[in-house]
Amino acid sequence: MTTPVLTIDGPSGSGKGTIARQVSIALGWHLLDSGALYRLVGLASAKKGVSTEIPGELAELARHMNVRFGSDEQGNERIWLDGEEVSAQIRTEKAGERASIVASIPAVREALLQFQRDCRKAPGLVADGRDMGTQVFADAELKVFLTASAEERAKRRHKQLNDKGIDVSLAALSRDIEDRDRRDSQRTVAPLTPAEDARLIDSSDLSIDDVTELVLGWAREIWEM
Ligand code: C5P
Repeated sequence: MTTPVLTIDGPSGSGKGTIARQVSIALGWHLLDSGALYRLVGLASAKKGVSTEIPGELAELARHMNVRFGSDEQGNERIWLDGEEVSAQIRTEKAGERASIVASIPAVREALLQFQRDCRKAPGLVADGRDMGTQVFADAELKVFLTASAEERAKRRHKQLNDKGIDVSLAALSRDIEDRDRRDSQRTVAPLTPAEDARLIDSSDLSIDDVTELVLGWAREIWEM
């Protein structure tokens, strides 16, 4: 029997990261935050001065990135790049922007494919991103596509950043989200689109717990847990 995988795809701010984490904890499964990988390639390339115009060098960098996922003494999730703790650095809007640029390069996506597939380990994997259900785990038994209105997503992101003490205008955030959505949906390689067999959830008027319960209900049904 192959190891079960549950994919959660959707645009930025749809809440997929939070939902994926909660679902993985409830099921006791591994978690893959694929967006973090693209953010890391973006950050590594900026730090090393590798231009986003040179696909071959970017792919090379992606293939040999020295990354470690773990947690600090308080149990908070942390990510290290070349020994430096970069968890906060990869979450900025600028890092998201650069991630979406490197993510549009086929050679970079190809370079990260095997790493992502290797995360499928027993007892199971919850994978969140843009192309988990369409490309990386096309054979997943449960695929969720999570969306929310652009306005709601901008508001959520605004609150998230404010809570971290980062001051940005809601209008600027809305513009960024729309730009990123456009780039992610229109790119020719692995565009953001629901898999044919994905179950759609519009989370605009749902709480995080509502969505988590909905997804867990499907998981229990499919895997008879
Ligand atoms: O999900 P997150 O906002 O961290 O992703 C950052 C960027 O990485 C996205 O805007 C998207 O361009 C890219 N990405 C992707 N495929 C994935 C996950 C993220 O192209 N599976």
